[in-house]
Amino acid sequence: MAALKGKKILLGLSGGIAAYKSLSLIRLFVKAGAEVKCVCTPAALEFVTPLSVETLSGNPLYSGLFSPKNEFKTAHVSLADWADLLVVAPATANTLAKFACGIADNALTTLFNAFDKPVVVVPAMNTRMYRNPATVANLNLLKDRGVFVMEPDCGDLACGTRGEGRMPEAETLFAYTAWVCRHFCRNEAGTNSGASAISSQTPCARNARPDWWSFYEGKKVLLTAGPTVEALDPVRFLSNHSSGLMGSCLADELSLRGARVYFVSGPGSCHPRFAPYRLLPVQTASQMYEASMELWPEMDLAILSAAVADYSPVEVSDQKIKKGEDGMLLALQKTKDILASLGRTKKADQILVGFALETENELGNARQKLERKNADLIVLNSLRNPGAGFACATNQVTLVDRKGNVVPQSLKSKEEVASDILDYVPALLEAV
Ligand code: CTP
Repeated sequence: MAALKGKKILLGLSGGIAAYKSLSLIRLFVKAGAEVKCVCTPAALEFVTPLSVETLSGNPLYSGLFSPKNEFKTAHVSLADWADLLVVAPATANTLAKFACGIADNALTTLFNAFDKPVVVVPAMNTRMYRNPATVANLNLLKDRGVFVMEPDCGDLACGTRGEGRMPEAETLFAYTAWVCRHFCRNEAGTNSGASAISSQTPCARNARPDWWSFYEGKKVLLTAGPTVEALDPVRFLSNHSSGLMGSCLADELSLRGARVYFVSGPGSCHPRFAPYRLLPVQTASQMYEASMELWPEMDLAILSAAVADYSPVEVSDQKIKKGEDGMLLALQKTKDILASLGRTKKADQILVGFALETENELGNARQKLERKNADLIVLNSLRNPGAGFACATNQVTLVDRKGNVVPQSLKSKEEVASDILDYVPALLEAV
């Protein structure tokens, strides 16, 4: 993932059984081209060994405040200067409490106190400890101070129970870190890698939040994604090449920005890494229409990235259609246009974003769709651009809005395109 290439990451481990997952996380960071240095609390070293941490990171471990082994003189300050980002995984209730109170009694807590760049903490503990009012208050305090707190998973816990508090898998931690880095870490030029730049006036990047931070928090967003599938008989169907990757990237970016994502998804091959608020799997255009129409009145925003079938068979055969002597004509009927239907009932405070995949007269067609379907923004992509469209990890889009703005973007990963679209949306509410 490009966001982490060349980044200097400090990985802090405190003493929980989930520390074994952090070893895989080190590998993922290193594979992505980041440089990793690890800091362990004494309790963490009951779960992982210095040898495994040092071998995987390729750097000395920092674990004692007064250890002569450390290459840094005042290590907590030098390491804080060196790193772009601090990730604490697992973060135990004890370490979180110390972070919240400013206690500096070991290498990790001291480092945290000296760190003024983005910090990610990943709580991992038993459900009752996670729900304990002291832990809840500490996490809220840390969030208020600008620390990124990753929500733990719900699942089997080491103590033999099931519930909240399980540390997410290394791949998910990696994706979350990459997201924080893309938006909040400064690159070599001194600006943010992502479009959502933090003001350079801000003295402490930990407390800086871009404008969209408050825009998406708690917003209800309907998102359609993937292809639809229209059955001809029990064996065959009509569909398209959409993988659902663009929609999955949008779902992740929305969830990470704090939105409640109502994800109406056709049977694509890509799935969001971060669980949407509600997942509504559908197969057909008609099911996608019904689900979307039911949700729409309650939504603040809808983004329709699905590749919806324009036609479905008039009849679906119960039995496999047998091959005849001659060719075969299929009778098709038009499906309902979901974007146009939402556009017809759109309220003044709702925002509607559609996509347009074109092969010719791109801008003309996009403008026409914007008008015809009463959308606020059309994300236009042309199959004539190499690297754009269905079957690739990249996309090149042009944003066409109802104020008449046409904003072409360069070729980017679909994750970055998702981020660009969401950066653009808040301005759509401003008066035309
Ligand atoms: N769309 C929809 N319901 C349909 C067809 C399309 O909601 N039955 C939405 C898509 O999700 C997309 C936008 O409309 O956001 C444009 O889709 P596209 O396939 O580019 O355009 P169509 O309106 O289907 O027109 P055409 O296929 O003729 O280009």
